[in-house]
Amino acid sequence: MKTWQNVASLYQIYPRSFQDLNGDGVGDLNGITFRLDYLSDLGVDAIWISPFFTSPMTDFGYDVADYQNVDPIFGGLDDFRMLLDEAHARRIKVMIDLVPCHTSDQHPWFVESRSSRDNPKRNWYVWRDKHNGKEPNNWRSLSGGRAWTYDETTRQYYLHSFLPTQPDLNWDNPEVRQAMQNVVRFWFDMGVDGMRVDAIWGISKDPELGDDSVNSNFYGDPDSYGAFVHDHCKHGPHFREYLHELASVCDEYDDRQMVFEFYPDEQLGDIWPQYREVIQAHPKSSTFFMEHRQNDWHGERTGWNIVNYLQACGDNLPFFCVGNHDQPRVRSRLGFERARALQFLNLLCPGVSVIYYGDEIGMENGQLTDADIRDNFSPNHTPVDSRDLERTPMQWDDTRFAGFSEVKPWLPVNKNRTFINVTEEKKNVYSILNLHRNLLQLRKDMPIFRDGSLEIIHSTGNGFILGIKRELETERAYIFINFADAPQSFFIPEDAEIIASTHSLDLIFKEKSNLTIPGYCGILLIK
Ligand code: GLC
Repeated sequence: MKTWQNVASLYQIYPRSFQDLNGDGVGDLNGITFRLDYLSDLGVDAIWISPFFTSPMTDFGYDVADYQNVDPIFGGLDDFRMLLDEAHARRIKVMIDLVPCHTSDQHPWFVESRSSRDNPKRNWYVWRDKHNGKEPNNWRSLSGGRAWTYDETTRQYYLHSFLPTQPDLNWDNPEVRQAMQNVVRFWFDMGVDGMRVDAIWGISKDPELGDDSVNSNFYGDPDSYGAFVHDHCKHGPHFREYLHELASVCDEYDDRQMVFEFYPDEQLGDIWPQYREVIQAHPKSSTFFMEHRQNDWHGERTGWNIVNYLQACGDNLPFFCVGNHDQPRVRSRLGFERARALQFLNLLCPGVSVIYYGDEIGMENGQLTDADIRDNFSPNHTPVDSRDLERTPMQWDDTRFAGFSEVKPWLPVNKNRTFINVTEEKKNVYSILNLHRNLLQLRKDMPIFRDGSLEIIHSTGNGFILGIKRELETERAYIFINFADAPQSFFIPEDAEIIASTHSLDLIFKEKSNLTIPGYCGILLIK
């Protein structure tokens, strides 16, 4: 089995939408096991499975009611054990999602906690009296509305940074921290290789629960999350200490990794020290590079973001991604050609390249109507702001339900399944799927892509061309991305040889040290 020190790619699976094997329209664990050969053939070294734990599904599994069991909709613990064994047999590591900062309101801990003010679990959550007849402070929830809900039974408010059905755990209580470490041990003991740790920015809060400052640069709804600078509701005094403590559980095992979910907040200062603080909380911790979500289409700035992130990583493992289950699909954000160029770059970055399921075939946002919307985070239940867009079923083939299911799936299959699907793209040597396969193979075969240094060697002030040199011992690789829509020419080391590109070689002109590539082209050379 590989160690995390030679894992070069991670594939994120949103289990509801990957493969339905039991015919209920929702994906399941056995479906993932069934598709492991596809993942192995694609060349992925590790998978991350979004939550599959017991849950009332108000946030589709990010509202956990039992951390140590599988929700029946996804299968059972034995199905998970089988998935783990089968993945390991193919030398694929398995990372699962840990949701440590809140539970479901149906979790027995919260049921107890809300039952009376003197219940031993009362202090496992954050309860406060009314303040001047109203909420204890001005904090807003990330899923819309106030972060406080009044509970008639005990006449106090409880805190929820997300939906009212997701009460925040009180991490200042050592019993809570211990309980969460035990959850990690439960899965690590079973053989799980790593944890993606959800929404950690609120793990420590202002102990006084002071009001957040008003964001004077915000001109939208004065009641919304963005109307405030989140200087009290997150990133409290014990932030790094709690992250370190949690990740330290990795030290009790052989080869385990944690990747914290974290979005740096420009309102709270320079973003790179924030990245550094989270990534380097522990030698076995990291966080995803999230800057591509800004859609800042500029070669030079993209390059510097990558360099700054790598510096923030220090010796810790980088995780580069272009999307996830909370962001619109990269292809819909940028269009096919620009997305492909960015994906090309992402697959040639150091450390671990992360692929969100379906991005490898160029899946687009779903075509959804108001009636299709299932995500409770979408305030108006319209497709415009819904995360359902990026969660539609995986497109395996061109059949009615795209090979995802035999029955009508929980979210509609995209109509473009007729030409965007695995079966079709396997046949086309120039498909984005085969581009992923080729680059993942290179990452496996040539350690330079995972372990080599990275340096910007060419960038134009207009942001058109980004040139990167990767170096390991005597090997050198050069990556050029054309961010412009028209062909660009530039100089390359004379004896460098093209080994991969987003476009057919017929469209690329190389004469000694001069190279001309089409718009939105990515090219890889070695020397
Ligand atoms: C994270 C998850 C998101 C979820 C939220 C609350 O941001 O990625 O999907 O809704 O946490 O758990």
